[in-house]
Amino acid sequence: MCGIIGIASNKSVVSNIIQSLKKLEYRGYDSAGIATIVDGNIDEKKCTGRVDNLEKILFKSPSKGSLGIGHVRWATHGAPSKENAHPHSSEDVSVVHNGIIENSNELKKILEEKGYKFKSQTDTEVITFLLTDFLKEFDLVDTINKTLKTLNGSFALGILFKKYNNIVVGARRGSPLAVGYGPEENYLGSDSYALKSMTNKITYLDDGDVCILTNDKVDFYNSENKKINKKTLTLSDDKHTVEKGDYKDFMTKEICEQNLTVKTCIKEYVDQLRKDINLYNFPIKPKDINKIILIGCGTAYHSCAMAKYWFEELTDIPIEIDIASEFRYRRIKLNKKNLYVFVSQSGETADTFAALDLCKKNKVKTCSIVNVVESSIARSSDFVLPIHAGPEIGVASTKAFTGQMLVLYILAIKISEVRKEISILDYEKKINDLKNLPDLIKKTLNYCQNNTPLIAKDFMKAKGAMFLGRGLSFPIALEGALKLKELSYLHAEGYPAGEMKHGPLALIEEGLPVVILAPKDRYFEKTISNMQEVIARGGKVILITNEVNKIVSENVRFTLEIPKTNEHLTPFLMTIPLQLLAYHVASLKNCDIDKPRNLAKSVTVE
Ligand code: F6R
Repeated sequence: MCGIIGIASNKSVVSNIIQSLKKLEYRGYDSAGIATIVDGNIDEKKCTGRVDNLEKILFKSPSKGSLGIGHVRWATHGAPSKENAHPHSSEDVSVVHNGIIENSNELKKILEEKGYKFKSQTDTEVITFLLTDFLKEFDLVDTINKTLKTLNGSFALGILFKKYNNIVVGARRGSPLAVGYGPEENYLGSDSYALKSMTNKITYLDDGDVCILTNDKVDFYNSENKKINKKTLTLSDDKHTVEKGDYKDFMTKEICEQNLTVKTCIKEYVDQLRKDINLYNFPIKPKDINKIILIGCGTAYHSCAMAKYWFEELTDIPIEIDIASEFRYRRIKLNKKNLYVFVSQSGETADTFAALDLCKKNKVKTCSIVNVVESSIARSSDFVLPIHAGPEIGVASTKAFTGQMLVLYILAIKISEVRKEISILDYEKKINDLKNLPDLIKKTLNYCQNNTPLIAKDFMKAKGAMFLGRGLSFPIALEGALKLKELSYLHAEGYPAGEMKHGPLALIEEGLPVVILAPKDRYFEKTISNMQEVIARGGKVILITNEVNKIVSENVRFTLEIPKTNEHLTPFLMTIPLQLLAYHVASLKNCDIDKPRNLAKSVTVE
């Protein structure tokens, strides 16, 4: 999704803005642009497509300037085009914007009546003209303040003024924004990742905050226009995890390092010596929990769907799962005895954040399970459980899904133990089993890397695919289908195998690839009979199981055998062949693996 960069320096900023925009590419975007102040005037350059195109434009017609803003845009209002790309500039002001201005149509009419001529279909251009208009009457701070008060919706802004040619201004409401401090220059960024190559000293803006950057200082104001001091954080050094290394793309790397991320996460939470799980300062006594509500979007929601099975098997607590974009608008009765758990890789997903915000306003207990610990969701919730997966760059979530599931599983075991709903023996056995998970994942990875490319060929001519599972395999089927859709653009459905007869069986026809997840568990026989129904109708079955024998494999096109482990850990192993399958299908179709079309890594608009 859109990304912002701003730099106030005493030397040329163009190349650093371009390099930082490249860091933001992972978020998914369709156009890019930059504006600097050159000889007292605003110089704007924009293009459709990649930052490389912008670089080519700059090569032919270089920009200068020690003050600049840059943007990568993911289209919301108006098609991806050069006119709609940011920055949006008037003679006096240049603006880059993340978010959505909800009252842009009304504001546009008013501004048009005043004679302003709009060049784009975006909601952002109203900000440019509002600032330009207020600037005629007011000083800098009042101009910003009055403009922000006129806007409804969410935004993170980076602004340049022709008149104030030594400052970059930032403002935040709803969409994240950070300030970074460098040697004789200061930075603005929509996430710390974009700033990391320049600094590890960061301040996050809160909702309503405005910042004014020069090359040697940063001033912060709150929504009441009062000057405020803000905390500076030092970011951890994770250089090694944000480079592709020898891998072809980030997604391969992120899939292949799952054994290591799981190992790190287990080390953070599990004390193998004492056979215990560390969960200090949990915001609610597990004994007092009335109900747990797990909330997320996309893959994060699938990890919630998975956790529902674990919680229900391990505890007596009623569990609900919810999609954040639904939760936030339903008329839900929030209850102080419930625990609301928000799952998010980025910690910036607009819908998840809004759902959390709703809970905060109703003063109910919140906990977040995030990868980015400096994120808005982490900072706003009562309690944070990091997944310790390291930066995930590929747009399609892989290692973060595994990490989210792992933390949810660990949480379920711990809550169950504190509530005395499992025996000590069982608790210790579960902890012991976790020790073996990294090796089992490694083994599964090695095996599936060799076997999935061949299977992927079968998907090349298919017009769709189905993923079926029962019980603990059902949420994994959902995730497998999502991975295939987003990476290879093939239509895919994830379904509970037992639901097939109620409609989806009509989709099965000669040659349709159907992935059946059938580990040896209490659903096994039932899943296998569902599989036979698919085979009987011509479906091309790819069976993923840990119980291979001749009878079940008859008429199965491919069988993938994953290692045996405890039933609760099997979903972790089931996930791997599905990630690799989606990857190889997408590779064969020459899709952009790390940046699938239309998608963004961090979905900061609803
Ligand atoms: C799918 C994927 C998305 C995200 C979703 C939520 O591969 O990555 O479905 O899971 O957009 O994002 P986070 O976890 O950052 O809240």
